[in-house]
Amino acid sequence: MSICSTALCRIFDVILIGYKMAHLLIVLLRILQRGRYCALLGLASILHLPAHAIEGMWLPHLLKALNEAEMQQMGLKIPAEAIYSVNSGSLKDAIVRFGGGCTGSIISPYGLLLTNHHCGYSFIQSHSTVENNRLKDGFWAQSMSEELPNPGLTATFIRRIVDVTDIVLSGVLPDMDERTKNAQIQKNIQLARDNIPLEPHEDVQVKAFFHGLQYLAIVTMTFRDVRLVAAPPESIGKFGGDTDNWVWPRHTGDFSLFRIYADSNNQPSDYSPDNRPYRAPVHLKINTKGIREGDFTMVFGFPGRTHSYLPSIAIQQIIETIDPARIEVRDSSLAVMQKYMRKSEAMRLKYASRHARIANYWKKWIGEREGLIRTKAVAKKQALEHSWTKKVQSNPALRQKYSYILPRFQALYDSIEAYHLARELYYEVFGWNSELMRFLHSLRRLVQLRDDSAAFRQYQKRLDTRVRAFWKNYDPYIDMEIFEAIFPVYLKHMPPELLSPPVRIVYYEEKWTPKEISEMFYYRTILTDSMAFMQLWDTDVYALVDTLQKELAYQLFEVNRDFFFDEVEPQYRELKAKIDEVQKDYMRSLMEVFPEKRFYPDANGTLRLSYGKVESYRSLDSVEYPVFTYIDGVISKYIPGDYEFDLPHRLIELYEQRDFGPYTDEQGRLPVCFIGSNHTTGGNSGSPALDGHGYLVGLNFDRVWEGTMSDYNYDIRLCRNIMVDIRYILFLIDKFGQCPRLIREMTLIDNP
Ligand code: ARG
Ligand code: ASP
Repeated sequence: MSICSTALCRIFDVILIGYKMAHLLIVLLRILQRGRYCALLGLASILHLPAHAIEGMWLPHLLKALNEAEMQQMGLKIPAEAIYSVNSGSLKDAIVRFGGGCTGSIISPYGLLLTNHHCGYSFIQSHSTVENNRLKDGFWAQSMSEELPNPGLTATFIRRIVDVTDIVLSGVLPDMDERTKNAQIQKNIQLARDNIPLEPHEDVQVKAFFHGLQYLAIVTMTFRDVRLVAAPPESIGKFGGDTDNWVWPRHTGDFSLFRIYADSNNQPSDYSPDNRPYRAPVHLKINTKGIREGDFTMVFGFPGRTHSYLPSIAIQQIIETIDPARIEVRDSSLAVMQKYMRKSEAMRLKYASRHARIANYWKKWIGEREGLIRTKAVAKKQALEHSWTKKVQSNPALRQKYSYILPRFQALYDSIEAYHLARELYYEVFGWNSELMRFLHSLRRLVQLRDDSAAFRQYQKRLDTRVRAFWKNYDPYIDMEIFEAIFPVYLKHMPPELLSPPVRIVYYEEKWTPKEISEMFYYRTILTDSMAFMQLWDTDVYALVDTLQKELAYQLFEVNRDFFFDEVEPQYRELKAKIDEVQKDYMRSLMEVFPEKRFYPDANGTLRLSYGKVESYRSLDSVEYPVFTYIDGVISKYIPGDYEFDLPHRLIELYEQRDFGPYTDEQGRLPVCFIGSNHTTGGNSGSPALDGHGYLVGLNFDRVWEGTMSDYNYDIRLCRNIMVDIRYILFLIDKFGQCPRLIREMTLIDNP
């Protein structure tokens, strides 16, 4: 080690005794500044809605009471019990939560499971090598014995939903402080869980709805042997890539097929070659005639998170503060990636999935922010608050309970804004966008466990796969360039008082440039030398940890991280907990003040049904969009050899021969995707789209860009979900994949 870096490390060790002794750092930083060149560079339902579209993600067990009449009037042909019933088979028995964050549905009596290509992506990828590239070439298991196991992948059914609000809120008194209240609730939740009788393999989870006004116990059954059955080539399953992502008109065949396997009693089991296809009591039947414009549709799945009842001030902060900062960080990060991805095919491949991950929400936030502005979401919420205030003020009982709410929101949101921003930025810069910082978060835990040899070894073992995966794709120079690009954005948006002391001092007092500071984070470290790192990882992990701990880069990372977790995150959480309490009162007050309105609980990862119509929309600049896209559009977008718009030859051949099988519409066209006014969000990917009979007609996978603000402000004029037409999926399985055995196990309805 050179003299300059050992000296630095010693001083830094002193500093680490407490980062609050920040001024000592100036000494360090002056030395560093002098010497750094020697080392650094080595490296809505509350609105009046027309009857054709319905905002909301509804609880399946309440459909009968709340929605059935309206749904039937819109075109539902079956009773609500056919959708959700505890006592007899219903459609809900064919819906699963697929893996961590998607939905899937069962489409044959033998446990065949339909979900999106992007939901199955990492599993398809894990079965792909350069020689046998199933991601690129597609995969069609021609028999059950060819179906491929996926350790860790699960499929969870909902068995029943039980209201346990009374138990969970019993003994919770309004004048209790936060802590006592939460302790009581936690105790009651345990009690509620214990009270639910469970069959073998069942599990129960208690979840809060309406910001804690209601609690439901959800009994589930999780299957753990889920095998890959089929997937189209990526050029079909992800056709249009990031360019078309969140965009309509769309031409993506975003589907893949899996199968649930069970033990000899048809019960969940870990993978075993003796397991058999799950014999499903209910599976979705398929309407091969598809659906038409104006028809009723519903989407049944597991939406992740929405925020439909926030006050105007919260929306304003998203528009003015939060979205712009995170968008700008990702702008800079994506620009660096794109520069390299354009240079070579190898680079493109290396960064494809990382780029897609960062670009997905980057693009969503841009659409969301624009949508919130263009639909005047803040003014809309203010108008609601105005009429709410009028009603609250004119009624003494309501006034006494609720008039505190809006001023309190204002004060709390004023206080939280800086913390919220700092938090988003921390996760963007030190989590999502810098691979090194992300990796350091994992390694830090190992450092912490240095003196507990059992735990150390155990964690080391757990980390091993991640460590190897990290080096497979890590390019320290590009990562550093990304960090150098995003760090100025970070400094520009961060409230100075929430910067960690070393960063604040060098930037505001010592006047370092953002580039100089960001270089410090990547200051000569073993993390830029894969050989050295892996040599120690494989032979002497303790030595590796000791080396790491002595490095300036690591120490600075740690000071910065500790500052965030000691000074920013707890404050944020405390304020957020207070906001949540007020939000709960606000929610209750909305229900009391507007008793004529119907409310749905915000999405929270639980099973919901959304319904609407197959319908078009007109963008705010008056472009009228089509409802369906067709194979002709796929072919027009085709760019041979392109990374996003290439196509397999076989598809082009089938197109040229017009060999579409029986899957065309009345005019002989092969539909590819369609849109509808079903209220969906992230997590709804892979959800079945059903017609009025409950037959499968499509597969949800995305939303239109102008409508991505639906998580905060659903607007029936603009919000549409995007689905793959089931006829395209059947055509791909049958004609393209030549896998008719799968079609044969489905139940096809030709004249619904
Ligand atoms: N936007 C969709 C969702 O949020 C699809 C993402 C996958 N597709 C892609 N091109 N990245 O998940
Ligand atoms: N594409 C999303 C998903 O993966 C769905 C959405 O956000 O509309 O769940």
